[in-house]
Amino acid sequence: MKLLVIGSGGREHALAWRLAQSQRVTRVFVAPGNGGTALEDRLQNVPLTQIEELIEFARREEIAYTVVGPEAPLAAGVVDAFRAAGLRIFGPTRAAAQLESSKDFAKAFMVRHNIPTGAYQTFANAQDAHAYIDQQGAPIVIKADGLAAGKGVVVAMNLEEAHRAVDDMLSDNKLGQAGARVVIEEFLTGEEASFIVMCDGNDVLALATSQDHKRLLDGDEGPNTGGMGAYSPAPIITPALHNRIMREVVHPTLQGMARDGHPFTGFLYAGLMIGDGPDATRPLKVLEFNCRMGDPETQPIMMRFRGDLATVFEHAVNGTLEKADVQWDRRTALGVVLASAGYPAAPRTGDPVSGVPAATEDCVVFHAGTVLEDQVLRTAGGRVLCVTALGDSVKRAQAVAYKAVQQIQFEGRQYRSDIGWRALPSAEANT
Ligand code: AMP
Ligand code: GLY
Repeated sequence: MKLLVIGSGGREHALAWRLAQSQRVTRVFVAPGNGGTALEDRLQNVPLTQIEELIEFARREEIAYTVVGPEAPLAAGVVDAFRAAGLRIFGPTRAAAQLESSKDFAKAFMVRHNIPTGAYQTFANAQDAHAYIDQQGAPIVIKADGLAAGKGVVVAMNLEEAHRAVDDMLSDNKLGQAGARVVIEEFLTGEEASFIVMCDGNDVLALATSQDHKRLLDGDEGPNTGGMGAYSPAPIITPALHNRIMREVVHPTLQGMARDGHPFTGFLYAGLMIGDGPDATRPLKVLEFNCRMGDPETQPIMMRFRGDLATVFEHAVNGTLEKADVQWDRRTALGVVLASAGYPAAPRTGDPVSGVPAATEDCVVFHAGTVLEDQVLRTAGGRVLCVTALGDSVKRAQAVAYKAVQQIQFEGRQYRSDIGWRALPSAEANT
Protein backbone atom coordinates (compact mmCIF):
# COMPACT_ATOMS: atom_id res chain seq x y z
CA MET A 1 0.00 0.00 0.00
CA LYS A 2 0.93 3.63 -0.50
CA LEU A 3 0.72 6.12 2.37
CA LEU A 4 0.83 9.90 2.70
CA VAL A 5 2.40 11.83 5.58
CA ILE A 6 1.60 15.56 5.80
CA GLY A 7 4.37 17.80 7.17
CA SER A 8 8.04 18.67 6.79
CA GLY A 9 9.67 18.33 10.19
CA GLY A 10 11.77 15.82 12.09
CA ARG A 11 8.61 14.26 13.46
CA GLU A 12 7.36 13.55 9.93
CA HIS A 13 10.74 12.18 8.82
CA ALA A 14 10.73 9.76 11.76
CA LEU A 15 7.11 8.66 11.18
CA ALA A 16 7.61 8.19 7.42
CA TRP A 17 10.90 6.33 7.98
CA ARG A 18 9.26 3.86 10.37
CA LEU A 19 6.14 3.46 8.18
CA ALA A 20 8.31 2.68 5.15
CA GLN A 21 9.89 -0.24 7.00
CA SER A 22 6.60 -2.13 6.92
CA GLN A 23 6.67 -5.01 4.43
CA ARG A 24 3.19 -3.99 3.33
CA VAL A 25 4.21 -0.47 2.30
CA THR A 26 5.50 0.21 -1.19
CA ARG A 27 5.92 3.97 -0.86
CA VAL A 28 5.40 6.76 1.65
CA PHE A 29 4.79 10.18 0.14
CA VAL A 30 5.71 13.14 2.34
CA ALA A 31 4.02 16.48 1.65
CA PRO A 32 6.03 18.62 1.41
CA GLY A 33 8.87 16.76 3.20
CA ASN A 34 12.46 17.94 3.67
CA GLY A 35 16.02 17.22 2.58
CA GLY A 36 16.09 14.02 4.64
CA THR A 37 12.86 12.53 3.34
CA ALA A 38 14.12 13.40 -0.18
CA LEU A 39 17.12 11.11 0.40
CA GLU A 40 15.37 8.02 1.79
CA ASP A 41 14.76 5.04 -0.46
CA ARG A 42 11.06 4.38 -0.10
CA LEU A 43 10.05 7.95 0.69
CA GLN A 44 9.09 10.52 -1.91
CA ASN A 45 8.46 14.22 -1.40
CA VAL A 46 5.48 15.85 -3.04
CA PRO A 47 5.42 19.66 -3.10
CA LEU A 48 1.84 20.06 -1.85
CA THR A 49 0.44 21.91 1.15
CA GLN A 50 -3.11 22.95 0.17
CA ILE A 51 -5.86 20.67 1.48
CA GLU A 52 -7.67 20.43 -1.88
CA GLU A 53 -4.43 19.48 -3.65
CA LEU A 54 -3.66 16.86 -1.02
CA ILE A 55 -7.12 15.32 -1.43
CA GLU A 56 -6.71 15.18 -5.20
CA PHE A 57 -3.27 13.60 -4.79
CA ALA A 58 -4.53 10.99 -2.30
CA ARG A 59 -7.31 10.03 -4.69
CA ARG A 60 -5.08 9.86 -7.74
CA GLU A 61 -2.39 7.79 -6.00
CA GLU A 62 -4.92 5.57 -4.20
CA ILE A 63 -3.35 6.34 -0.84
CA ALA A 64 -4.46 3.76 1.74
CA TYR A 65 -4.51 6.42 4.47
CA THR A 66 -2.94 9.73 5.41
CA VAL A 67 -1.12 10.62 8.63
CA VAL A 68 -1.04 14.29 9.70
CA GLY A 69 2.10 15.52 11.51
CA PRO A 70 1.66 19.19 12.48
CA GLU A 71 -1.17 21.11 14.16
CA ALA A 72 -1.83 23.77 11.50
CA PRO A 73 -3.56 21.49 8.94
CA LEU A 74 -5.55 19.85 11.75
CA ALA A 75 -6.79 23.23 12.97
CA ALA A 76 -7.61 24.09 9.35
CA GLY A 77 -9.86 21.03 9.07
CA VAL A 78 -7.78 18.64 6.95
CA VAL A 79 -9.36 15.61 8.65
CA ASP A 80 -12.92 16.83 8.06
CA ALA A 81 -12.12 17.56 4.39
CA PHE A 82 -10.49 14.15 3.76
CA ARG A 83 -13.35 12.30 5.44
CA ALA A 84 -15.94 14.29 3.49
CA ALA A 85 -14.09 13.19 0.35
CA GLY A 86 -14.31 9.55 1.48
CA LEU A 87 -10.59 9.28 2.24
CA ARG A 88 -9.02 7.65 5.29
CA ILE A 89 -6.89 9.87 7.51
CA PHE A 90 -5.49 9.73 11.06
CA GLY A 91 -5.99 12.87 13.14
CA PRO A 92 -8.63 14.84 15.05
CA THR A 93 -11.40 16.83 13.37
CA ARG A 94 -11.15 20.60 13.43
CA ALA A 95 -13.59 20.72 16.35
CA ALA A 96 -11.61 18.16 18.36
CA ALA A 97 -8.31 19.88 17.51
CA GLN A 98 -9.50 22.89 19.52
CA LEU A 99 -7.95 21.10 22.49
CA GLU A 100 -4.69 22.43 21.03
CA SER A 101 -5.79 25.34 18.83
CA SER A 102 -7.56 27.21 21.65
CA LYS A 103 -6.05 27.30 25.14
CA ASP A 104 -9.32 28.77 26.44
CA PHE A 105 -11.26 25.83 24.95
CA ALA A 106 -8.82 23.36 26.53
CA LYS A 107 -8.91 25.01 29.96
CA ALA A 108 -12.71 25.29 30.04
CA PHE A 109 -12.93 21.66 28.90
CA MET A 110 -10.58 20.49 31.67
CA VAL A 111 -12.48 22.37 34.36
CA ARG A 112 -15.82 21.05 33.05
CA HIS A 113 -14.59 17.45 33.11
CA ASN A 114 -12.53 17.58 36.29
CA ILE A 115 -9.18 17.04 34.60
CA PRO A 116 -6.38 18.36 36.81
CA THR A 117 -4.87 21.63 35.54
CA GLY A 118 -3.68 24.98 36.92
CA ALA A 119 -6.18 27.66 37.97
CA TYR A 120 -6.77 30.26 35.26
CA GLN A 121 -8.88 33.01 33.76
CA THR A 122 -9.30 34.15 30.15
CA PHE A 123 -9.22 37.81 29.07
CA ALA A 124 -9.79 39.80 25.90
CA ASN A 125 -9.64 43.12 27.72
CA ALA A 126 -6.15 44.36 28.66
CA GLN A 127 -7.27 46.39 31.68
CA ASP A 128 -9.02 43.39 33.24
CA ALA A 129 -5.97 41.21 32.53
CA HIS A 130 -3.62 43.73 34.21
CA ALA A 131 -5.90 43.89 37.25
CA TYR A 132 -5.99 40.09 37.52
CA ILE A 133 -2.18 39.92 37.37
CA ASP A 134 -1.85 42.52 40.15
CA GLN A 135 -4.30 40.56 42.25
CA GLN A 136 -2.57 37.18 41.66
CA GLY A 137 1.07 38.30 41.82
CA ALA A 138 4.12 36.73 40.13
CA PRO A 139 5.38 34.28 38.98
CA ILE A 140 2.43 33.83 36.63
CA VAL A 141 1.97 32.44 33.13
CA ILE A 142 0.45 34.33 30.17
CA LYS A 143 -0.66 32.25 27.17
CA ALA A 144 -2.01 33.39 23.83
CA ASP A 145 -5.29 31.60 23.19
CA GLY A 146 -4.51 30.57 19.61
CA LEU A 147 -1.71 28.74 17.79
CA ALA A 148 1.46 30.81 17.96
CA ALA A 149 4.17 28.38 16.78
CA GLY A 150 5.76 28.04 20.22
CA LYS A 151 5.86 31.82 20.87
CA GLY A 152 2.57 32.07 22.72
CA VAL A 153 3.62 31.25 26.29
CA VAL A 154 5.33 33.71 28.64
CA VAL A 155 6.37 32.34 32.01
CA ALA A 156 6.63 35.69 33.80
CA MET A 157 8.88 35.59 36.84
CA ASN A 158 7.90 39.15 37.85
CA LEU A 159 4.95 41.51 37.45
CA GLU A 160 6.70 43.67 34.89
CA GLU A 161 7.18 40.73 32.48
CA ALA A 162 3.58 39.65 33.01
CA HIS A 163 2.18 43.12 32.26
CA ARG A 164 4.43 43.42 29.22
CA ALA A 165 3.18 40.07 27.85
CA VAL A 166 -0.41 41.29 28.19
CA ASP A 167 0.46 44.55 26.42
CA ASP A 168 2.23 42.66 23.62
CA MET A 169 -0.68 40.31 23.03
CA LEU A 170 -3.83 42.29 23.85
CA SER A 171 -2.83 45.90 23.18
CA ASP A 172 -0.12 45.70 20.50
CA ASN A 173 -1.43 42.57 18.72
CA LYS A 174 2.10 41.18 18.38
CA LEU A 175 0.75 37.65 17.83
CA GLY A 176 -2.19 38.76 15.68
CA GLN A 177 -5.46 36.90 16.09
CA ALA A 178 -3.76 34.15 18.16
CA GLY A 179 -3.16 36.71 20.90
CA ALA A 180 -6.56 38.41 20.77
CA ARG A 181 -7.46 36.54 23.96
CA VAL A 182 -5.07 35.39 26.68
CA VAL A 183 -5.26 32.68 29.27
CA ILE A 184 -3.58 33.72 32.51
CA GLU A 185 -2.58 30.69 34.49
CA GLU A 186 -1.18 29.79 37.87
CA PHE A 187 2.59 29.10 37.82
CA LEU A 188 3.26 25.41 38.42
CA THR A 189 6.49 23.77 39.52
CA GLY A 190 7.80 20.24 39.12
CA GLU A 191 9.15 18.07 36.33
CA GLU A 192 7.59 18.04 32.86
CA ALA A 193 6.87 14.92 30.81
CA SER A 194 5.14 14.20 27.50
CA PHE A 195 2.47 11.52 27.53
CA ILE A 196 1.17 10.65 24.06
CA VAL A 197 -1.62 8.23 23.16
CA MET A 198 -3.25 7.12 19.91
CA CYS A 199 -7.06 7.17 19.82
CA ASP A 200 -9.45 5.66 17.30
CA GLY A 201 -12.62 7.19 18.77
CA ASN A 202 -13.15 4.27 21.17
CA ASP A 203 -9.91 2.68 22.18
CA VAL A 204 -6.66 4.16 23.28
CA LEU A 205 -3.07 3.00 22.91
CA ALA A 206 -0.41 4.66 25.04
CA LEU A 207 2.92 5.25 23.29
CA ALA A 208 6.27 5.19 25.04
CA THR A 209 6.77 8.15 27.39
CA SER A 210 9.26 10.91 26.69
CA GLN A 211 10.75 14.14 27.91
CA ASP A 212 11.53 17.25 25.90
CA HIS A 213 14.04 20.08 26.51
CA LYS A 214 12.30 23.36 25.69
CA ARG A 215 15.06 25.85 26.50
CA LEU A 216 17.80 26.71 24.04
CA LEU A 217 20.79 26.42 26.37
CA ASP A 218 22.37 23.86 28.70
CA GLY A 219 20.93 23.69 32.20
CA ASP A 220 17.47 24.72 30.89
CA GLU A 221 18.56 28.31 30.40
CA GLY A 222 17.80 30.76 27.60
CA PRO A 223 14.68 31.28 25.50
CA ASN A 224 11.94 28.71 24.90
CA THR A 225 12.19 26.78 21.64
CA GLY A 226 10.17 24.13 19.84
CA GLY A 227 12.36 21.59 21.66
CA MET A 228 16.13 21.07 21.62
CA GLY A 229 16.18 17.34 22.31
CA ALA A 230 14.20 14.50 23.84
CA TYR A 231 14.55 11.03 25.19
CA SER A 232 12.34 8.03 25.81
CA PRO A 233 11.37 6.52 28.20
CA ALA A 234 10.81 9.25 30.84
CA PRO A 235 11.92 7.52 34.07
CA ILE A 236 9.69 9.82 36.14
CA ILE A 237 6.64 8.03 34.68
CA THR A 238 6.67 4.85 36.75
CA PRO A 239 3.99 2.19 36.13
CA ALA A 240 2.00 3.60 39.07
CA LEU A 241 2.09 7.12 37.64
CA HIS A 242 1.28 5.76 34.18
CA ASN A 243 -1.93 4.30 35.61
CA ARG A 244 -2.81 7.57 37.31
CA ILE A 245 -2.27 9.52 34.08
CA MET A 246 -4.56 7.14 32.17
CA ARG A 247 -7.19 7.30 34.92
CA GLU A 248 -7.02 11.00 35.80
CA VAL A 249 -6.18 12.57 32.43
CA VAL A 250 -6.48 10.38 29.33
CA HIS A 251 -9.75 8.51 29.94
CA PRO A 252 -11.65 11.55 31.29
CA THR A 253 -10.43 13.59 28.30
CA LEU A 254 -11.59 11.05 25.74
CA GLN A 255 -14.90 10.51 27.55
CA GLY A 256 -15.39 14.27 27.89
CA MET A 257 -14.72 14.90 24.21
CA ALA A 258 -17.18 12.17 23.23
CA ARG A 259 -19.80 13.54 25.62
CA ASP A 260 -19.32 17.06 24.24
CA GLY A 261 -19.96 15.75 20.72
CA HIS A 262 -16.34 15.75 19.53
CA PRO A 263 -15.16 12.13 19.72
CA PHE A 264 -11.37 12.24 19.59
CA THR A 265 -9.39 10.44 16.92
CA GLY A 266 -5.67 10.95 16.39
CA PHE A 267 -2.74 11.55 18.70
CA LEU A 268 -3.49 13.13 22.04
CA TYR A 269 -0.42 14.59 23.69
CA ALA A 270 -0.71 15.67 27.30
CA GLY A 271 2.10 17.96 28.46
CA LEU A 272 2.24 17.23 32.18
CA MET A 273 3.71 18.94 35.22
CA ILE A 274 4.53 16.42 37.93
CA GLY A 275 5.17 17.74 41.42
CA ASP A 276 7.10 16.16 44.29
CA GLY A 277 5.89 13.33 46.48
CA PRO A 278 5.09 9.63 46.40
CA ASP A 279 3.53 8.43 43.13
CA ALA A 280 0.09 7.85 44.63
CA THR A 281 -0.29 11.46 45.76
CA ARG A 282 2.22 13.65 43.94
CA PRO A 283 0.57 16.58 42.10
CA LEU A 284 -0.18 15.82 38.47
CA LYS A 285 -1.45 18.61 36.23
CA VAL A 286 -1.99 19.14 32.52
CA LEU A 287 0.02 22.10 31.20
CA GLU A 288 -1.29 21.76 27.68
CA PHE A 289 -2.84 19.39 25.20
CA ASN A 290 -1.53 18.89 21.70
CA CYS A 291 -3.49 17.01 19.06
CA ARG A 292 -0.45 15.53 17.36
CA MET A 293 2.82 13.89 18.25
CA GLY A 294 5.58 16.02 19.73
CA ASP A 295 8.63 17.19 17.87
CA PRO A 296 11.34 16.14 18.82
CA GLU A 297 9.67 13.51 21.09
CA THR A 298 8.57 11.49 18.03
CA GLN A 299 12.16 10.87 16.94
CA PRO A 300 13.23 8.85 20.04
CA ILE A 301 9.77 7.26 20.30
CA MET A 302 9.96 6.00 16.70
CA MET A 303 13.53 4.84 17.28
CA ARG A 304 12.24 2.55 20.07
CA PHE A 305 9.13 1.39 18.19
CA ARG A 306 9.10 -2.35 17.41
CA GLY A 307 6.39 -3.82 15.24
CA ASP A 308 4.62 -2.88 12.03
CA LEU A 309 3.74 0.80 12.28
CA ALA A 310 1.70 0.81 9.05
CA THR A 311 -0.59 -1.87 10.50
CA VAL A 312 -0.93 0.01 13.79
CA PHE A 313 -2.11 3.13 11.94
CA GLU A 314 -4.41 1.01 9.79
CA HIS A 315 -6.09 -0.25 12.94
CA ALA A 316 -6.29 3.31 14.23
CA VAL A 317 -8.06 4.64 11.10
CA ASN A 318 -10.36 1.59 10.97
CA GLY A 319 -11.42 1.83 14.61
CA THR A 320 -9.78 -1.46 15.60
CA LEU A 321 -6.93 -0.09 17.69
CA GLU A 322 -7.52 -2.76 20.35
CA LYS A 323 -5.98 -5.26 17.91
CA ALA A 324 -2.78 -3.26 17.41
CA ASP A 325 0.45 -4.91 18.49
CA VAL A 326 3.12 -2.53 19.74
CA GLN A 327 6.39 -3.22 21.47
CA TRP A 328 9.17 -0.90 22.54
CA ASP A 329 12.89 -1.47 22.47
CA ARG A 330 14.01 -1.70 26.10
CA ARG A 331 16.90 0.62 25.43
CA THR A 332 16.82 4.40 25.89
CA ALA A 333 16.52 6.51 22.76
CA LEU A 334 17.87 10.04 22.89
CA GLY A 335 17.66 12.76 20.24
CA VAL A 336 19.87 15.87 20.07
CA VAL A 337 18.57 18.74 17.94
CA LEU A 338 21.02 20.75 15.85
CA ALA A 339 19.54 24.20 15.27
CA SER A 340 20.56 26.91 12.83
CA ALA A 341 22.39 30.15 13.61
CA GLY A 342 20.01 32.71 15.11
CA TYR A 343 17.40 30.16 16.27
CA PRO A 344 14.84 30.70 17.77
CA ALA A 345 14.53 34.48 17.24
CA ALA A 346 15.77 34.74 13.64
CA PRO A 347 16.98 31.44 12.16
CA ARG A 348 19.40 31.82 9.27
CA THR A 349 18.85 29.54 6.27
CA GLY A 350 20.89 28.47 3.26
CA ASP A 351 24.02 27.22 5.06
CA PRO A 352 25.50 24.04 3.50
CA VAL A 353 25.35 21.00 5.81
CA SER A 354 28.07 18.33 5.66
CA GLY A 355 29.17 15.21 7.49
CA VAL A 356 25.73 13.72 8.21
CA PRO A 357 26.56 10.08 9.04
CA ALA A 358 24.65 7.25 7.36
CA ALA A 359 21.97 5.58 9.49
CA THR A 360 23.05 2.60 11.60
CA GLU A 361 21.09 0.20 13.81
CA ASP A 362 21.58 2.48 16.79
CA CYS A 363 21.86 5.96 15.31
CA VAL A 364 19.64 7.78 12.79
CA VAL A 365 19.80 11.45 11.83
CA PHE A 366 16.28 12.75 11.23
CA HIS A 367 16.00 15.93 9.18
CA ALA A 368 13.76 18.92 9.86
CA GLY A 369 14.78 22.31 8.38
CA THR A 370 16.85 21.02 5.47
CA VAL A 371 16.50 21.12 1.68
CA LEU A 372 18.34 19.19 -0.97
CA GLU A 373 19.26 21.56 -3.82
CA ASP A 374 21.35 20.21 -6.71
CA GLN A 375 22.57 17.43 -4.42
CA VAL A 376 23.70 19.95 -1.80
CA LEU A 377 22.05 19.76 1.62
CA ARG A 378 21.30 23.20 3.08
CA THR A 379 19.67 24.55 6.22
CA ALA A 380 16.09 25.68 5.61
CA GLY A 381 14.64 26.34 9.06
CA GLY A 382 15.25 26.75 12.78
CA ARG A 383 15.62 23.17 13.87
CA VAL A 384 17.78 21.49 11.25
CA LEU A 385 18.51 17.90 12.32
CA CYS A 386 17.79 15.56 15.22
CA VAL A 387 20.54 13.01 15.84
CA THR A 388 18.78 10.09 17.52
CA ALA A 389 20.57 7.17 19.17
CA LEU A 390 19.75 4.04 21.14
CA GLY A 391 21.78 2.85 24.11
CA ASP A 392 21.56 0.47 27.05
CA SER A 393 21.62 3.48 29.37
CA VAL A 394 20.98 7.19 29.00
CA LYS A 395 24.71 7.71 29.21
CA ARG A 396 25.39 5.21 26.43
CA ALA A 397 22.70 6.74 24.18
CA GLN A 398 24.21 10.16 24.83
CA ALA A 399 27.67 8.89 23.87
CA VAL A 400 26.44 7.47 20.55
CA ALA A 401 24.35 10.56 19.72
CA TYR A 402 27.04 13.12 20.57
CA LYS A 403 29.68 11.21 18.60
CA ALA A 404 27.49 11.60 15.50
CA VAL A 405 26.75 15.25 16.37
CA GLN A 406 30.50 15.99 16.28
CA GLN A 407 30.72 14.81 12.67
CA ILE A 408 28.04 17.19 11.37
CA GLN A 409 29.07 20.66 10.26
CA PHE A 410 27.22 23.81 9.29
CA GLU A 411 27.90 27.46 9.97
CA GLY A 412 26.57 28.64 13.32
CA ARG A 413 25.08 25.32 14.41
CA GLN A 414 23.68 25.31 17.94
CA TYR A 415 22.96 22.34 20.16
CA ARG A 416 22.67 21.51 23.83
CA SER A 417 25.35 19.30 25.29
CA ASP A 418 23.23 18.04 28.20
CA ILE A 419 20.24 16.32 26.58
CA GLY A 420 19.00 13.65 28.98
CA TRP A 421 20.50 15.15 32.14
CA ARG A 422 17.36 14.68 34.19
CA ALA A 423 17.29 10.97 33.42
CA LEU A 424 20.86 10.32 34.56
CA PRO A 425 21.12 8.71 37.98
CA SER A 426 22.54 11.47 40.18
CA ALA A 427 25.87 9.66 40.58
CA GLU A 428 26.28 9.51 36.81
CA ALA A 429 25.20 13.10 36.36
CA ASN A 430 28.15 14.22 38.45
CA THR A 431 30.76 12.35 36.47
P1 AMP B 1 3.34 25.26 26.12
O1 AMP B 1 3.61 25.97 24.82
O2 AMP B 1 1.96 25.40 26.64
O3 AMP B 1 3.91 23.88 26.11
O4 AMP B 1 4.24 25.98 27.21
C1 AMP B 1 5.62 26.09 27.00
C2 AMP B 1 6.33 25.83 28.28
O5 AMP B 1 5.99 26.84 29.22
C3 AMP B 1 5.97 24.54 28.96
O6 AMP B 1 6.65 23.45 28.46
C4 AMP B 1 6.40 24.85 30.38
O7 AMP B 1 7.80 24.71 30.51
C5 AMP B 1 6.04 26.29 30.53
N1 AMP B 1 4.72 26.43 31.16
C6 AMP B 1 3.51 26.40 30.58
N2 AMP B 1 2.52 26.55 31.49
C7 AMP B 1 3.12 26.67 32.69
C8 AMP B 1 2.65 26.83 34.04
N3 AMP B 1 1.34 26.95 34.32
N4 AMP B 1 3.56 26.90 35.01
C9 AMP B 1 4.89 26.82 34.74
N5 AMP B 1 5.40 26.66 33.51
C10 AMP B 1 4.53 26.58 32.49
N1 GLY C 1 8.14 19.30 21.69
C1 GLY C 1 6.93 19.92 22.08
C2 GLY C 1 5.88 19.90 21.08
O1 GLY C 1 5.96 19.23 20.08
O2 GLY C 1 4.88 20.59 21.28
